[in-house]
Amino acid sequence: MEEGIDVKNIGLRGVKVADTRISDVDGEKGILIYRGYNIIDLARSSTFEEVSFLLLNDHLPTQEELKRFQSEIVPERKIPEAILEMMKWLPKSANPMDVLQSAVPVLGSYDPHLNEETREANLKKTLRLMPKLPILVAVWDRIRKGKNPVLPRSDLTHAGNFLYMLSGSLPDPDTARDFDTCLVLHAEHSFNASTFAGREVASTHAHLYASVAAALGALSGELHGGANSEVMRMLLEIGEVSRVNSWVREKLQKGGKVMGMGHAVYHTEDPRAGILRKISQKLAERTGERKWYEITEAIEVATREEFRKIKGKEIYANVDLYSASVYHMMNIPVDLFTPVFAISRVSGWTAHIIEEKFAEAQPKAELYRPDADYVGTYCGPQSCEYVPIEERSK
Ligand SMILES: CC(C)(COP(=O)(O)OP(=O)(O)OC[C@H]1O[C@@H](n2cnc3c(N)ncnc32)[C@H](O)[C@@H]1OP(=O)(O)O)[C@@H](O)C(=O)NCCC(=O)NCCS
Repeated sequence: MEEGIDVKNIGLRGVKVADTRISDVDGEKGILIYRGYNIIDLARSSTFEEVSFLLLNDHLPTQEELKRFQSEIVPERKIPEAILEMMKWLPKSANPMDVLQSAVPVLGSYDPHLNEETREANLKKTLRLMPKLPILVAVWDRIRKGKNPVLPRSDLTHAGNFLYMLSGSLPDPDTARDFDTCLVLHAEHSFNASTFAGREVASTHAHLYASVAAALGALSGELHGGANSEVMRMLLEIGEVSRVNSWVREKLQKGGKVMGMGHAVYHTEDPRAGILRKISQKLAERTGERKWYEITEAIEVATREEFRKIKGKEIYANVDLYSASVYHMMNIPVDLFTPVFAISRVSGWTAHIIEEKFAEAQPKAELYRPDADYVGTYCGPQSCEYVPIEERSK
């Protein structure tokens, strides 16, 4: 060991690396709080705009504060012409998460405060970036389909405007409200993989846009944010409620994973899954298309039963299980499910990046620098003899 303590924890499960004032997850009781407020109350009564203010400012906004917040973010519903042009040149098959991840640092180069490292300047950067993410996603979806981008509307909510820019038609108020609740539910979740990636990059003193780009990369993987698209692919593959039991049994017996089930922190039901289950059921009733809700529910039941038989323990639905059917019923394309997650999580990421940089709570970590045991080639204390390339036989 070069430095530090000689303890190995693969995957860093349960290792505390900082203090945070932003959110807390009680994995045993299934409780999630944002800045002290229970996610169930926030999902019921709040909006994405209010929650973003809360995450960034450590208190719920007054009406006046919310109005000011909105007046700062709404005019930022636009992207530079050059990024629009850049997107037109990309292959239509480009993964939307990759498009998003490449556009974010470029957006940084248009920010006059890019290299100003104060808390206030980083808040300004956040208020500029947050409203641009939905624009990037909606515009990319239109471009790749050969359609003209739809201009944003300043009279719509963050959630409503995204749905409008995606489809070109106004969402019905119930759908816009349900989508807003989805954004509230996904906005923050403590030291998950993408947030940690963002904080780690911020700890190097990289700027906020670079830190968000790192978080986007981490979110794209199927074990994290990519799971919601994978859940939808699973639903499409199964196709019928009658096929669920045999599909799940075969999957688990072969040692495969059922996407949308299990969680690294929750050992009981993820509170967000319960809320999304209800939204999925409501949408199924509203749209008259019950199939996707019913398949999802059957998968949850079958996985829990089969898991109990095989492993002798419980497994529960996570946030991604029901969000897949919800987004599908909202006509959001499958490969935009993870970008939709990002549109919401950016408020949590930026709150964490600012906390990392300006140490509201924790003893300031200068730079994350874990360690590893070297298990590679070893030629003894003298190290391996370097043979010039022309003398090497293989
Ligand atoms: C999220 C996830 C990576 C957490 O994994 P984890 O921290 O290893 O979870 P646990 O320690 O509780 O896993 C215990 C056991 O259950 C298994 N398991 C966990 N989730 C599973 C799933 N969805 N399907 C099948 N088996 C699963 C693990 O492989 C492990 O098996 P083992 O004891 O034989 O090694 C995992 O549950 C998973 O891959 N889920 C599917 C992907 C997903 O939905 N991701 C979104 C998370 S919000």
